[in-house]
Parts: sequence; structure tokens; C-alpha cells
Amino acid sequence: MQPDAITHAAGPLGQKQRSTTTATAESREEADSLFEHVAWLYAFLREHIFRDDTLRMIAALWPERQPDPGTEVVEIGCGPGFYARKLGARFPSVSITGVDRSANQVQWAQRRAASEGLTNCTFQRVNALMLPCENARFHILIASRLFTILPDPERAVAEMYRVLKPGGRCFVAEPRHAFWASIPLFAMWLLAGVTHSRNGCCEPRKAKVFSAAAFQKLFAAQPWKNFATWRDGRYQYALCEKA
Ligand SMILES: C[S@@+](CC[C@H](N)C(=O)[O-])C[C@H]1O[C@@H](n2cnc3c(N)ncnc32)[C@H](O)[C@@H]1O
Repeated sequence: MQPDAITHAAGPLGQKQRSTTTATAESREEADSLFEHVAWLYAFLREHIFRDDTLRMIAALWPERQPDPGTEVVEIGCGPGFYARKLGARFPSVSITGVDRSANQVQWAQRRAASEGLTNCTFQRVNALMLPCENARFHILIASRLFTILPDPERAVAEMYRVLKPGGRCFVAEPRHAFWASIPLFAMWLLAGVTHSRNGCCEPRKAKVFSAAAFQKLFAAQPWKNFATWRDGRYQYALCEKA
């Protein structure tokens, strides 16, 4: 897929057939999203305010050596593609697909990747709860700050497991404190409220965060070969390896 192609149709992941009712309900939810209406605000916060976990991610996923050429990485709920682009710039021989359900976030990611001269990053508008690809498609999966707004994290983790190859690994980063994690949502709700764009957005007012035990339990539901969860400052992390 070319960097400027925004599509709901086939991309690097292809596209599953959905019933008309499901597709219509999904499209409505996608359109009624803060990440759609005030996309630039989230992109600004992501680029300039939030913690940058790129080095933590690299140290966890590739502790001993660089990724093999041809490694296929997917970032789900990639937003403006911050991590996809960082990894793409750092490892030019790795191929990265960022997926997000928001057309504006995908468009932002594509534009930034193009302006940064990245040819190994593609972005696609896709529901992370129903990734339109075969089982065992990716070597590596990353997700950051996704569960704060996702209604069904258990299903997302099951999808993570499904799309990873045997021996594949995922790295997940989530905020720990509802107060801090809700500030960006609050700012987005506020901006959406004072502009004409507000249209019954589907995101919660308050970010969802997990206790250490609940975070661990979320990942324990899948039959990983190994997995670990840990906390570091305002964030918690999971690193999982598929058998
Ligand atoms: C809080 S942002 C996180 C973005 C990015 N990962 C980061 O680290 O900043 C959550 C993103 O998930 C996307 N999202 C929410 N539900 C989704 C779904 N079911 N499938 C794909 N993306 C989804 C939103 O559009 C938004 O861009």
C-alpha cells in the first residue's frame, strides 16, 4: 500500500468480509471518535507530552541483537504512528504496519512517515479487534495506550495472540493512573465540545487503567510460552512470547 492511500479496503493486511450491519455500526463508531474529530490534538500530545518508550521497547523485544531483516511488525491502535515510525527509522530492514480505526490518525501517520522518508512503514484503517489477516502473520506486535479506551481488551489480547507467529513477541505499554491518563481525553472532549466537530464521541470520559493483578490476568488468559508484566513509573508493560 502506498503511504498516501487511506483505505478501508484491502491493504497489507487485506480486509475481512463483514456483514452490512456490522460494517455500518463500525463506520458510525469510527466517525464518532475523538481521535477523528480532534486528531491533531492527540498527535501533538503523543509527539510532545507522553513518555517515549521506544528504547524500552527495543530493549525488551531485541535485548541481544538487532531484528532480523524482513521482520514483520504490526502496531495496533497506532494513532499517529509514533512508535511505528520510530522503529521504522531505527530499523530500515524491518517492515512495519500500523493499524488504527481512525481515518484521520492513519492519514496523519502516513503523512508523517512520508515526510520522514520512511519506505518501510504502511498504515491501514482497521479494527484491532478483528484484524483482517490470517493467523500467525507477524513476528512482532506492539500496542501503546490502547486499553485506556478499548471496550474489549480481552478480545484485543486474543487477537494479538492469534496474529503472532510461533516464537513471535508482543510488547504492550499502558498508563497506570486513571487521573493522568484521563487528562488527554479530557482535553480532547473539551476541544471537541467547543468546536463544531463534536458528534457523540464513543470514547469514555475517563481512561480505563488496570491494577497490576488485572493487567497480569489479562495476558494470562492466552497460552503464551512466556509472559511478564511489570511497572515502571506511571506505566505498566507486558512482554509476551508465543509458543
Ligand atoms: C490513546 S490512542 C493510542 C495511540 C498510540 N498507540 C499511542 O501510543 O499514542 C488509542 C488509539 O486507538 C485507536 N483505536 C481505538 N479503538 C480501536 C480499534 N477497535 N481498532 C483500532 N484502533 C482503535 C484510536 O483511534 C486511537 O488512535
